[in-house]
Amino acid sequence: MQVSTTTSAPIDTHADTVAIGVFDGKDVAHDTPGGELQALLDAGEAKTSFKHLAVTHAEGKRWIVAGLGDRERFDAERARVVAAKVGERAREMGTSELCWELPHHSDDHVAGGFVEGTVLGAYRFDRYRAKDPDDGNGIRQLCVSDHDDRAQAIAAAAIVAHATNAARDLQNMPANDMTPQALAARAQELADAEQGVSCEVLGRDGIVEAGMGCFAAVAQGTYVDPQLITLRYEGPDADGPVLGLVGKAVTFDSGGISLKPPLKMSEMKFDMSGGAAVVEAVGAIARLALPLRVIGVVGATENLPSGRSMKPGDIVRASDGTTVEIVNTDAEGRLVLSDCLVHAKAQGAERLVDIATLTGGCVVALGSTYAGLFANDDEWGEAVASAARASGELAWRLPLHDEYAESIKSRYADIMNAVENRKAAPITAAEFLARFAGDTPWAHLDIAGTAWDTGKAHSGKGGNGFGVRLLVELARSMAAR
Ligand code: BES
Ligand code: MN
Ligand code: ZN
Repeated sequence: MQVSTTTSAPIDTHADTVAIGVFDGKDVAHDTPGGELQALLDAGEAKTSFKHLAVTHAEGKRWIVAGLGDRERFDAERARVVAAKVGERAREMGTSELCWELPHHSDDHVAGGFVEGTVLGAYRFDRYRAKDPDDGNGIRQLCVSDHDDRAQAIAAAAIVAHATNAARDLQNMPANDMTPQALAARAQELADAEQGVSCEVLGRDGIVEAGMGCFAAVAQGTYVDPQLITLRYEGPDADGPVLGLVGKAVTFDSGGISLKPPLKMSEMKFDMSGGAAVVEAVGAIARLALPLRVIGVVGATENLPSGRSMKPGDIVRASDGTTVEIVNTDAEGRLVLSDCLVHAKAQGAERLVDIATLTGGCVVALGSTYAGLFANDDEWGEAVASAARASGELAWRLPLHDEYAESIKSRYADIMNAVENRKAAPITAAEFLARFAGDTPWAHLDIAGTAWDTGKAHSGKGGNGFGVRLLVELARSMAAR
């Protein structure tokens, strides 16, 4: 979708459909010459209650009057939701160019929310399906009309929304096509396309040679070559600490020898969601030309049972020398991430965030509303939490504690990858990662519940690219210092 801005009134644009929002207790700000919109409200067909839609025709265009609800409660997320609803209705009506008239005095976040909601809501993943002739082409162009010039905020929101949709493509692709190599190819493609980005990839031999025994152990059960993807971004006038983004990209998690039950196992193609977010976030950060340095590290592999798989009881050695007893081969994400965290630090990362579909327990605890957030440093934890709030990709801080750290100590090795009693699974997983972050400020996002099928109006089915907006916002906040 092409996104543009104008300070002209929607009626003077080429748009075939215009959307106008109305807050509770307010009238339509700019009516049609014939007064059709206010008439719709006066007749009760249009309502100001949040998400209510009504449609009329005037001046050779379609007009959608959208309820925005209480002005005080309106925020960027509500803008995303109502924009997605409007986009859906516009699509049904055959709209190809939509113009949104922004509510007066919207700030940049709210303005961006309208763009994101439209672009995210228009997303379809249908490349594996025969074309439905009734489906049309969808909205091709979005024009945002406002009194103030919002070109920069709108362009930035469009970049981030398109990057989010690109991450959704990576997530939604089936694991037979979205292999570690396919993900690495996408990272390389971004490096080729974007200024200041380079990409390096290690395969199985390189991973083994680098002493990444934990990552290699997960990968040893599959014939598919694992990939350690390192993206580097050097922004113009880059300044400040180097941001290290680390993503789990298990392109299919069967559980390995500790095999998962069949129900919903197909969802484990989404177990690369963290890696997808890192790849596309780095791409968006580069497009935005943010003035900082970023290192993106993605550990990509399948986790499968075979005659050469790692086994419960095996002891492996991570690249920092830590020995790990594998108690459960389904706790593979932390094994991949441990070596990736060590690698990110070795590559120069001074602030770390990892993002991973790490534990089913996090889905139980927080559902699809908040990701789990852990940090070994309060200031850095707050930086990530506030990027989460600003982006609308919410994260709730959960605790670390010495007692949890004690609980992953192994009888036979330094630590073990799972605790048999399953107590506080998201936390013990985070404690495992914390050991590898060491003294570097580090935060961990457990996105097991938020990465797909969240039911949100703008991205409710399949992968939703969770983390792209959050990580870009975090980079932005670091670049602003
Ligand atoms: N990828 C899964 C976590 C997951 C499960 C994400 C369901 C989303 C939905 C992860 O690799 C895993 O299997 N974790 C185990 C860890 C346990 C064995 C300690 C879990 O959470 O059950
Ligand atoms: Mn697993
Ligand atoms: Zn997994």
